[in-house]
Amino acid sequence: MTKILVTGGLGYIGSHTCVALSQSGYTPVVIDNLSNTDIRIKARIESIIGQPLAFQKIDLCDSAALSTYFEQEKDLQGIIHFAALKAVGESVDKPLLYFQNNIEGLINLLTSKSPSLPIIFSSSCTVYGESAQQPLQEDFPFQKAVSPYGSTKQMGEEILQFSAGKNNQGSVIALRYFNPIGAHSSAQIGELPKGIPQNLVPFLTQTVAGKRDKLSVFGHQYPTPDGTCIRDYIHVMDLAEAHVSALERLLNKKNKSPFEVFNIGTGKGCSVLELIHSFEKATGEKVPYTFAPPRPGDVTIAYADTTHAQKVLGWSAKRSIEEALSSAWNWEKQQ
Ligand code: WQD
Repeated sequence: MTKILVTGGLGYIGSHTCVALSQSGYTPVVIDNLSNTDIRIKARIESIIGQPLAFQKIDLCDSAALSTYFEQEKDLQGIIHFAALKAVGESVDKPLLYFQNNIEGLINLLTSKSPSLPIIFSSSCTVYGESAQQPLQEDFPFQKAVSPYGSTKQMGEEILQFSAGKNNQGSVIALRYFNPIGAHSSAQIGELPKGIPQNLVPFLTQTVAGKRDKLSVFGHQYPTPDGTCIRDYIHVMDLAEAHVSALERLLNKKNKSPFEVFNIGTGKGCSVLELIHSFEKATGEKVPYTFAPPRPGDVTIAYADTTHAQKVLGWSAKRSIEEALSSAWNWEKQQ
């Protein structure tokens, strides 16, 4: 029984990763402070994987509780670290909350765990900032972060890069996510934004479900073919499976250095209007939208060069954007 700690494991990407871990024969165990998810997700994950899921409500900023946890959980083989705040807009309004939660939480985790435990770190394409050069490659330099959220991901990678492999610290792989969308095919788990969704796809599905009046398309005069921003939308299950591939690289000691980084995207750019049309084609539903001013902090284009993950991790995205959008709609209809 290879037990893997999943911090933030009841969250959107964390819950899907628990399913992928279990389907690959691993035993996920979860700590989560439930600040951005719902305890009901635990039973949903259990119904998908067909076995109990060990869970403790712990905040990574509570270093005493975290130390006690690691004293009790002796036979962990690895950690996948999701637990962090991740709303770009909110981070601009509450920078100190983001730096404290995301950085203090990471440092508590690193100093409380048994040092040699390897870690998969949840990073983000946000670390690249605004880049004229596309698709984005792992060795592109960081541009200055445009939000505290993006800054915490850049700082997180730097903390891990300088600490991995030293003083008996285990190895680390950072996965730079592009735009995760969609839900598990069972529609038992999916994206559960609290309040008004910040991200495009949950706002779109809530609009089509009649919970929102209309979708605002933030900006349509960008220097792109149809004037709207381009992103790399990846099915959340493809993203979850990438974590298992990265974990196995560390467990089997295949990594070439103590700190490695991989882009996790589809390698395909998709504009906001193209996504809307893909959703309408995939579901037969109409998306009511209007054009609105650009959103501060948005980059024009961000999509992944995925050759490093394909060649080195042996991973690539398998699911289409239509499949991801259909699964997002099926999940929305369950709410
Ligand atoms: C996508 C596009 C918006 C809402 C963020 C984080 C990133 C990652 C994914 C964590 C943009 C447009 C959006 C709406 C719109 N999160 N949009 N109307 O900002 O690319 O990335 O989420 O890892 O780190 O930065 O995602 O879904 O918010 O926006 O037109 O109501 O959709 O302007 O062009 P984003 P998003």
